[in-house]
Amino acid sequence: MARATGQSPLVIFGASGQVGGAIFREATRRGLRVVGTYRGHPQPGLVPWEADRSAADLLERDTPWAVIYAVGFTNVDACETHEEEANRWNARVPVEMARAGRGRFQVVYFSTDYVFDGAGGPYAEADAVRPLSAYGRSKVRGEEGVLSVNPSALVVRTTVVYGPEAQGKNFVAQIRARLSAGDRMRVANDQLSTPTYNEDLAAGTLDLLERQASGIWHVSGPEVMSRAALAQLAAETFHLDAQGVEPTPTALLRQSARRPLHAGLKIDKLLHAALPHPVRSAREGLQAYAAGEGHARPQ
Ligand SMILES: NC(=O)c1ccc[n+]([C@@H]2O[C@H](COP(=O)([O-])OP(=O)(O)OC[C@H]3O[C@@H](n4cnc5c(N)ncnc54)[C@H](OP(=O)(O)O)[C@@H]3O)[C@@H](O)[C@H]2O)c1
Repeated sequence: MARATGQSPLVIFGASGQVGGAIFREATRRGLRVVGTYRGHPQPGLVPWEADRSAADLLERDTPWAVIYAVGFTNVDACETHEEEANRWNARVPVEMARAGRGRFQVVYFSTDYVFDGAGGPYAEADAVRPLSAYGRSKVRGEEGVLSVNPSALVVRTTVVYGPEAQGKNFVAQIRARLSAGDRMRVANDQLSTPTYNEDLAAGTLDLLERQASGIWHVSGPEVMSRAALAQLAAETFHLDAQGVEPTPTALLRQSARRPLHAGLKIDKLLHAALPHPVRSAREGLQAYAAGEGHARPQ
């Protein structure tokens, strides 16, 4: 399998999104040649691509050494009523890409702790999956499909990703925007996860890719916390009024998709791999975010 060279690009599908954007920045900082795509949110340096279109021109013109599929139908509640699209973009398209990559280029697929039922998290890579939602089911199909057609592929599971992001959609960005506007926000106090700073996810993913890792790896923050606790910590870090965060049981939030409550990811495998860029706690990640890391570094 190819490794990074000066000529062959790293192709990132979904580089206008949060995860793809963070990887685009980190890969550029590492001096890699990168081609990134957007669909509805153009950004300088990215090329348009829609998942219903063939990716052949991007994969065949100058063969990449690796392809990162950071596209996703990521609105968990909307997946309940759009399961066909969720399956297409979260499973069928990346499985085709993984098949195309066999013996030609490395493939990275992103998944989530929503593949688990949340009865006993945090979870290790080998724990049995049992998704509660259409989103979770589509991601299980994606993981299993990608690895069955291409066992050399890398599946990175992550969760509650936050940090600098062009579109400002992530959980912490939304908390900042709402609290800054003086709004109050009801936030689940019983949905537990292991929040992940997007710059650390990007560095960890590229470190694994450069080591030619394959199979399932968890790349997330190290500590379990509720959404409400993360929101309060974010308020404190960004000097906003934490009273605007109303800790609320999930049962009262009327979210259409079921959430795994005791979720989150164990990262022992990642820690044993002793990669050069460690993952930071939520406090450290939020402080780096507040200090402008990612925004301020060269693109
Ligand atoms: N964010 C998290 O907390 C989290 C947690 C676990 C797993 N993940 C996984 O990580 C991956 C990336 O998530 P994200 O948070 O970065 O999502 P995101 O911010 O919503 O970005 C999604 C990206 O995919 C592109 N895209 C969406 N639909 C497309 C389509 N039909 N054709 C072509 N491009 C399309 C978007 O382009 P435009 O915006 O330009 O339209 C954007 O670049 C997903 O697989 C997600 O399931 C994310």
